[in-house]
Amino acid sequence: MKGIIRKVGSYDEMSKIVALHVKRFIGNSQIGVLGLPTGGTPLGMYKELREDTRLNWSKVATFNLDEYVGIDEKHPESYKNYMYRNLFSHIDIDENKVHFPDGEHYDSRITYFGGLDFTVLGIGNNGHIAFNEPGSSFESTTRLVDLDERTISDNSRFFNSIDEVPKQAWTMGLKTIMDSKEIFLIAQGKSKWEIIREAFYGEITEKVPASILQKHKNLTVLYCD
Ligand code: GLP
Repeated sequence: MKGIIRKVGSYDEMSKIVALHVKRFIGNSQIGVLGLPTGGTPLGMYKELREDTRLNWSKVATFNLDEYVGIDEKHPESYKNYMYRNLFSHIDIDENKVHFPDGEHYDSRITYFGGLDFTVLGIGNNGHIAFNEPGSSFESTTRLVDLDERTISDNSRFFNSIDEVPKQAWTMGLKTIMDSKEIFLIAQGKSKWEIIREAFYGEITEKVPASILQKHKNLTVLYCD
């Protein structure tokens, strides 16, 4: 394990730390390529980022980790809608440089922009990162996947009923993510701590997709209660 795993005092502190690293990255970059997550955990980070009006996003390209299939992009829970609501509508980013996975060509698009420089990840209770569910190949690239029952059930809290949760999604692959030069993973809560222990102190196995991150050369994991 080459990375750093750090427990921080609060959700607020975790959000501020990860936002600070994104800000430093944006400030230092000529053309920065960011990999961005969705879900409940990054909401505090996005708040920090959108409230900093001094940030210059004009040179930044973003690639979201995943997107549901089967709901319209205007649906409030589409990841595109989430990203505009929580970040993109509030900042001066060039919309031509904003990307959501919608086909296998996504990896060549990332390569065209020079590859992912800095990626922020959440983690699912079953060890998924992006939507790479247990059993995903460590060599996987962007592809269409079926969502795990656990993921559908976990994400049903964002929908009116479990039947409304999409069953499929486009996701960056594990190889796509591992190719990012730097990775931050953020997690909150007891059940996430259990999966973090399994992923980062246990065996590297495709049964726990996040465990491949143990091999990453520049990884920081931040966790809070
Ligand atoms: C979702 C997303 C992941 C996210 C994870 C954790 O299903 N596809 O990218 O990291 O699950 O989400 P949350 O932060 O809401 O627990």
